[in-house]
Amino acid sequence: MTCDTRLIMSVLIQNGKEILEGLKLLVDVGGGTGTVSKAIKCKEAIPNKENGGKLIIIDMIIFDNKEKSGDDKSCETQLFYDMLMMVLLGGKEKNEQEWAKLFLDAGYSDYKIIPILGLRCVIEYLKNMTTLCNNDIKQVLAAKTHIWNYTFNYVSSMSLKCAIQLGIPDIIHSHGRPMALSDLVNALPIDNKTKGQDYIYRLMRILIHDGFFLQEGDGYLLTPNSRLLLKDEPLNILPFVQFGLDSIVIDPFHYLSQWLQNGEYSSTPFETTNGNTIFEKETKINRLLNEGMACDARLVMSVLIQNGKGQLFEGLKSLVDVGGGTGTIAKAIADAFPQINCTVFELPHVIEGLEGSKNLSFVGGDMFSSIPCANAILLKSVLHDWSDEDCIKILKKCKEAIPSKENGGKVILIEIVMDQNKDDDKSYETQLLIDMLMMILLSGKERSQQEWAKLFYDAGYSDYKIIPILGLRCVIEVYP
Ligand SMILES: C[S@@+](CC[C@H](N)C(=O)[O-])C[C@H]1O[C@@H](n2cnc3c(N)ncnc32)[C@H](O)[C@@H]1O
Repeated sequence: MTCDTRLIMSVLIQNGKEILEGLKLLVDVGGGTGTVSKAIKCKEAIPNKENGGKLIIIDMIIFDNKEKSGDDKSCETQLFYDMLMMVLLGGKEKNEQEWAKLFLDAGYSDYKIIPILGLRCVIEYLKNMTTLCNNDIKQVLAAKTHIWNYTFNYVSSMSLKCAIQLGIPDIIHSHGRPMALSDLVNALPIDNKTKGQDYIYRLMRILIHDGFFLQEGDGYLLTPNSRLLLKDEPLNILPFVQFGLDSIVIDPFHYLSQWLQNGEYSSTPFETTNGNTIFEKETKINRLLNEGMACDARLVMSVLIQNGKGQLFEGLKSLVDVGGGTGTIAKAIADAFPQINCTVFELPHVIEGLEGSKNLSFVGGDMFSSIPCANAILLKSVLHDWSDEDCIKILKKCKEAIPSKENGGKVILIEIVMDQNKDDDKSYETQLLIDMLMMILLSGKERSQQEWAKLFYDAGYSDYKIIPILGLRCVIEVYP
């Protein structure tokens, strides 16, 4: 808080001198959260308005509608801060109406908001003030908002985790029409519904801001984003989100700098923190990974097959899905193309007990040793798990398993190509996030087109084709 106060005071003294001018005595009262009782105590300690008595508050005023503040980053950071107050102190950030009510309840006559501190305002009642900032100060305040926003970005992910754990998307969905806050609170598995209502309101407010819910009149509705989190939605990606937000995945990020300093890169930050890899048998993380990847595979295959991109597989007689998890992709291909013999080639423990069908089989093994022969090899989200050296080894093993290009041999990859989505900010940012995840969890990385091309040529392939049909990711056909 000291560094925050330093910055605030430097702005206040440069731009808001009038607020303090004329005062002879000033008491700086403790801080913390604004309450009526504190405001009443303050009122007892100051002279009346006519004699220059005033209460000066430096605090946030939540902008309930974005147009009013005109700054999305500030709004979002205020919502992060509000959630932080809920979790750390039981406090809250207030909107203008809530502040006004507090002043009125504490017996004050009037107030004035002086928005000169970026995210926060000075609130007092009395004289007219200059509220303009010079450009330097505006820049410092914007930088401060940016840093706060970045610092508290996890509040978004954690709010989503909480909503999923409480089952909010399913509850709103079953309601079948816009769901009022009180109905939502009544349907939630929480004990103290009276006090809980305000907390749930604030949780919903940040999730509305983040695009997970909509508000229609007084009721909450789902958005396409929360629809993908419904338990009964066939293409839901709940298990993937549960994997990504589990503390086993998040914890190693706390040790990234330590890991970089130690320089022992033969094990990942994940291994250093947890003592095992994410592919290890009978671990919680491996179960979460397999379930998460299976739901991702379901969605990818539905896009590929339903959108007529099944031609990728046309003409093939056999296909091996290397590192194919529990077989979601291979099963979808086997069902859609009965003439293709599909094989899932995986670490033995991942496919233990899984039953094949007429044109689907499961084979346990290690892709670094040898891969079963087929017309085509599929690798979805496998190569990004590995270093360049390991990828070249895998790609060489794939090449040994397929016929020549003239005879239809190919490797099909489903992977991120870093420079494909640069004009879509959200996609590019998500790719950067996944790249960092690959650094932490595995020794992998996300690659640009040039980096992919180098890998293919180094592994002895002659050509490749990028097909950007999967949003964040692409299909890449690689020819021997
Ligand atoms: C990120 S997951 C991708 C799973 C699946 N392809 C998908 O996208 O749904 C990587 C997979 O590679 C498998 N794998 C790791 N090492 C392997 C090896 N040496 N041989 C075969 N599979 C391996 C893991 O068990 C895991 O299922």
